[in-house]
Amino acid sequence: MPEVSARPVPQHVAIIMDGNGRWAAGRGLPRAAGHREGAKAVRRTVEAAIAKGVRYLTLFAFSSENWRRSPGEVADLTFLLKHYLRSELNEMHAQGVCLKIIGERERFGPNLTAELTAAETKTANNSKLTLVMALSYGGRADIVAAARKAIASGMAAAALTEENFAALLDTRGIPDPDLLIRTSGEVRISNFLLWQTAYSELLFTDVLWPDFGAATFAAALDEYATRERRFGARPA
Ligand code: FPP
Repeated sequence: MPEVSARPVPQHVAIIMDGNGRWAAGRGLPRAAGHREGAKAVRRTVEAAIAKGVRYLTLFAFSSENWRRSPGEVADLTFLLKHYLRSELNEMHAQGVCLKIIGERERFGPNLTAELTAAETKTANNSKLTLVMALSYGGRADIVAAARKAIASGMAAAALTEENFAALLDTRGIPDPDLLIRTSGEVRISNFLLWQTAYSELLFTDVLWPDFGAATFAAALDEYATRERRFGARPA
């Protein structure tokens, strides 16, 4: 169990990036324009996280449920992801970013899957910031996949612990998020990191994702610094 304390800077921040569509609608623009601005906010947020000394940043870029959007929107999001990877990878590498992908990357097809894996390999030894991109990710699917692995390994039921179960999740080796932010005023977890956010501080902001950046990230960290984390315990 982690120690009972308030931590000034969260080690791991996870973000549900929401509100691209509303940002675009508010300007009479197509949804794709909102996603494009959202990609710029991703860049700003990676830079803000590095500047603040955050060590892990997990972004919910595409949920398992996002496949149910129109084929056109899925294509727009896939294109943006590919474009982002190609245009930002060298810069991220130079900044010391280690990229990790969680979720069912194979669903994006063999070419993008190979590019994502190559990007992970290229940046594997970087240690300034670990950027975890959740792609075709669902918290329940992650838990079910881990349970299947445990069963397939032939492990005795009594041998299963929280620690060895966590090591079977997509996020193995990554500490749990200290802070989970969701933008756009929606107050839901939406099947994100269900297991991993058991003790995360939750922060919901009305800011739409394309408007997110250094100032809103700093404000979120300030709010986090005021939270008292007890992990279910009571101070002595
Ligand atoms: C929610 O907006 C956002 C997403 C569907 C995923 C986030 C996608 C990006 C930030 C774009 C590109 C990503 C990368 C990694 C470069 P929404 O469409 O649900 O907004 P709405 O609820 O206002 O309609």
